[in-house]
Amino acid sequence: MSGLGLLPTDRLFVLTGAGISAESGLATFRGSGGLWNGYRVEQVATPEAWQADPALVWNFYSMRRRDALASEPNAAHRALATMEKQMGDRFYLCTQNVDDLHERGGSLRVHHMHGSLFESRCERCEVPFADRGFYEDGNTLPTCKDCGAAVRPHIVWFGEIPLAMEEIYAKLAASTHVLVVGTSGSVYPAAGFVQIANQRGLKTIYVGPEEPLNAGAFDDIRLGTATEILSGCLDG
Ligand code: APR
Repeated sequence: MSGLGLLPTDRLFVLTGAGISAESGLATFRGSGGLWNGYRVEQVATPEAWQADPALVWNFYSMRRRDALASEPNAAHRALATMEKQMGDRFYLCTQNVDDLHERGGSLRVHHMHGSLFESRCERCEVPFADRGFYEDGNTLPTCKDCGAAVRPHIVWFGEIPLAMEEIYAKLAASTHVLVVGTSGSVYPAAGFVQIANQRGLKTIYVGPEEPLNAGAFDDIRLGTATEILSGCLDG
């Protein structure tokens, strides 16, 4: 990976956002004017939205499941899978994305800090399980087989705490380089990882077609699409 300037002992922490899936045809949130398929965040991606209208929330996530199933991983997903194969345990991938394109692109270990589109969980039992269902008819929403409580998408909504933050911070602390791909730098805590990396003296690189909001915190900004730049990193 000479394209990233990595030595054989270096350890790479990668954070991806919606931009890495843009070239697979999945719309980014901020690129579509702050709307997801025409919905505002507070209508469909908050605990309050779930309390107010679970049928609408399930309708929205069923649509996102359909969109993800209809898309394919791109060269950027595959480039990160190749890096993982080359680096093994010296590579860690954390994504804000809930789609499964990293896995379908060949990545073996992916930490989905904002949850997974193809998992659901009982509101009461809290244990996530694989679920590829579509719940578009508000009269037949899923319930827990064990306790009968409502089943919700296994997604971290606005106002909720991302998953396994301790593991993420430990991996950051153990890294030498941080590569951030396709995220606007507007949603915390992920947007703050680069500052933590700076405090620890890690080298930080951003990849995307435009500067993120936290651009000033990066050592190196590589402007271009994820597929162009990450494929180039492998060639380098
Ligand atoms: N390659 C790389 N980056 C791209 C591409 C591309 N082809 N196309 C767009 N981008 C970049 C944009 O420049 C923008 O910076 O992707 C970013 C998308 O930003 P957002 O839509 O804000 O997505 P993200 O930063 O992942 O959002 C963070 O907020 O929407 C919520 O919980 C959701 O996980 C998400 C979080």
